[in-house]
Amino acid sequence: MEMSQFLVEIKNVWKSYEIRSFWFKKQKFYALLDVSLKISKGEVIGILGESGCGKTTLGKIILDLEKPDKGEVFWFGKNLKYISRREYKSLRSKIQAVFQDPYSSLNPRYKIKDILLEPYFICIENNKKKGLEKAKELLNQVGLDQNVLNEYPHALSGGQRQRVALARALMVSPDLIVLDEPTSALDMTIQSQILELLKNFKEKIGLSYFLISHSLPVVFYLSDWIIIMYLGKIVEICKKEFFNSVDHHPYTLMLLEAHLDPFSKKPPFKKEIKGEVPSALFRPSGCVFYSRCKERQKMCLKKSPKLRKINNLQYIACFKR
Ligand SMILES: Nc1ncnc2c1ncn2[C@@H]1O[C@H](COP(=O)(O)OP(=O)(O)O)[C@@H](O)[C@H]1O
Ligand SMILES: [Mg+2]
Repeated sequence: MEMSQFLVEIKNVWKSYEIRSFWFKKQKFYALLDVSLKISKGEVIGILGESGCGKTTLGKIILDLEKPDKGEVFWFGKNLKYISRREYKSLRSKIQAVFQDPYSSLNPRYKIKDILLEPYFICIENNKKKGLEKAKELLNQVGLDQNVLNEYPHALSGGQRQRVALARALMVSPDLIVLDEPTSALDMTIQSQILELLKNFKEKIGLSYFLISHSLPVVFYLSDWIIIMYLGKIVEICKKEFFNSVDHHPYTLMLLEAHLDPFSKKPPFKKEIKGEVPSALFRPSGCVFYSRCKERQKMCLKKSPKLRKINNLQYIACFKR
């Protein structure tokens, strides 16, 4: 099979949900507006943004758990609209997911052994001996004792469960793991252990992550590229090394300002952010960030700025950059 240099590519994706508003009138609400991005092998893309800005929806589009209204999704260069079922099946296992809540993402009626073996049997081969060997090897790599194989998820702590979730994702040797708030449900010490583990896997086996988080330090720790989202739009893409030394989108600057203590347990965005968040339903026609922007001009109310290349390491959607 001809291989693309990108594991996943998203082109001009729009995604709406139908919601019932006042008087039970149906209304279309856009969770993603014209989103495009690429994920290369071995790279970590971090998506940062406040709750409700569309991060999880974007993760689901990448995993093909949601279909876009408009736009294209490519896996390994193959457009999902035209892919054959056989190709789809062979690529499906290459993109795995680990979600926020390790309490609900592991089937409580399965032993850890069966939780790990299930994807192996489906995607790799129906060979219990080899599967168990791989499971033991991975448990060791994620820092768990082999004894957990015969335990049920409820016997484990939150951190241990998230290690199991990671081992399960790795059972089918993926190229990419979508991590949706992987450490948000854990306390600080456990959180940093899991982040370190994720970093080790990335460095050792060249794994890629699509890391979704509302926490700047989490995104900063793991990512090669940082993508900032606001109300369904990407407002900035910036290479991590570069992040501390350049000018940014006004919203990114606001996040940086608000984030005084990088190890604070509190959600970072609450503090200094001024201005009203517009309802996503009554979205302004101009820039999505208009109502909170310190640098807004008249034109920003009328026109929506496109993501523009500033240089090879930074893209910003703002008329003033
Ligand atoms: N299945 C759904 N039906 C209706 N609205 C949804 C659905 N899923 C998400 N949304 C809405 O889409 C927006 C983006 O949600 P989400 O992607 O979960 O954001 P985030 O992960 O950044 O918090 C939110 O306003 C949310 O209420
Ligand atoms: Mg989410």
